[in-house]
Amino acid sequence: YNQFQNRSFLAEKDFTGAEFYTLIKFAEHLKDLKAHNVEHHYLAGKNVALLFAKTSTRTRSAFTVAATDLGAHPEFLGANDIQLGKKESLADTAKILGSMYDGIEYRGFEQSTVDALAQYSGVPVWNGLTDDWHPTQMLADFMTIDEIFGHIKGVTLTYLGDARNNVANSLLVTGAMLGANIHLVGPKSLQPSAAVQKIAQNFAAQSGSQLLITDDLQEGLEGSDVLYTDIWASMGEEDQWAARIKLLQPYQLNMAAVQATHNPNTIVMHDLPAFHDLNTTMGQQIHDQFGLDELEITDEVFNAPFAHQFQQAANRMHTIKAVMAATLGHPFIPTTIDPA
Ligand code: CP
Ligand code: NVA
Repeated sequence: YNQFQNRSFLAEKDFTGAEFYTLIKFAEHLKDLKAHNVEHHYLAGKNVALLFAKTSTRTRSAFTVAATDLGAHPEFLGANDIQLGKKESLADTAKILGSMYDGIEYRGFEQSTVDALAQYSGVPVWNGLTDDWHPTQMLADFMTIDEIFGHIKGVTLTYLGDARNNVANSLLVTGAMLGANIHLVGPKSLQPSAAVQKIAQNFAAQSGSQLLITDDLQEGLEGSDVLYTDIWASMGEEDQWAARIKLLQPYQLNMAAVQATHNPNTIVMHDLPAFHDLNTTMGQQIHDQFGLDELEITDEVFNAPFAHQFQQAANRMHTIKAVMAATLGHPFIPTTIDPA
């Protein structure tokens, strides 16, 4: 038995800062096991369903490899593969899945869908991204910060751009839980809702985290240890590109932003995928329509030695492995790791 057993991972706020940090430390331990080829079939004989109503490279791959490493069988169920919400109610589908699978990952649109899956399935449900939150991303992001800085408390992270999306919401709340200082910098119309700010403020009052939400670039960047950005139009918002480019161009993560921190050791993060160049089919359309070569992050910053987005992406697998092993009942969750 462990304190995570049978719990779902739907939003960061369902956990305490200490619990969140324990999962990060468990992931660091699992990363170490993998690096040394130590078998860890903690979930042998279990089956997990991976539901994706939106596309994914990292999250899908992370769940698939993590489940396999743990000895569990992962089954991918894409938007067009199952009846969910089209021919069969969410509740009925959840009951069926819960009767066969030991755990369910869900990526999609409304937070209420993933919440209902947890309610009706009776098994742990893991949020692989909704319009509101991206909690598995947060485990990987703060694990990466822990690896680079040796701690999380007191680190100042500045997020530039669409400060009202899932990743911005999650960074604000998770940073507040873990005692990191979070600056969200974006235009007033793209700042987090009052409800999200309230959740974060409540955690910050306990952890000592300092939160700043502003449209003032220099104020947000000064002294920052980590600069972070995300795509300007999230999945499901593809009709917003013109408006977003207009609003967000001043908030691009470029060398001027890096220099404006006045911190020679600042690092850069991005959850990916990134429009650091427009050499993709969607990128080409944006290039042809708006005449731009890069969007939320410049290619120069993306390729700089202080940019850590690939370490961050690799950590998705280890952290998702920690969440599945913990919630499906692996009994030993270490809280401190012997560095030797
Ligand atoms: N960062 C992230 O969630 O990537 P995918 O959309 O590829 O899963
Ligand atoms: N905000 C982005 C994150 C992608 C991982 C989106 O929702 O599309």
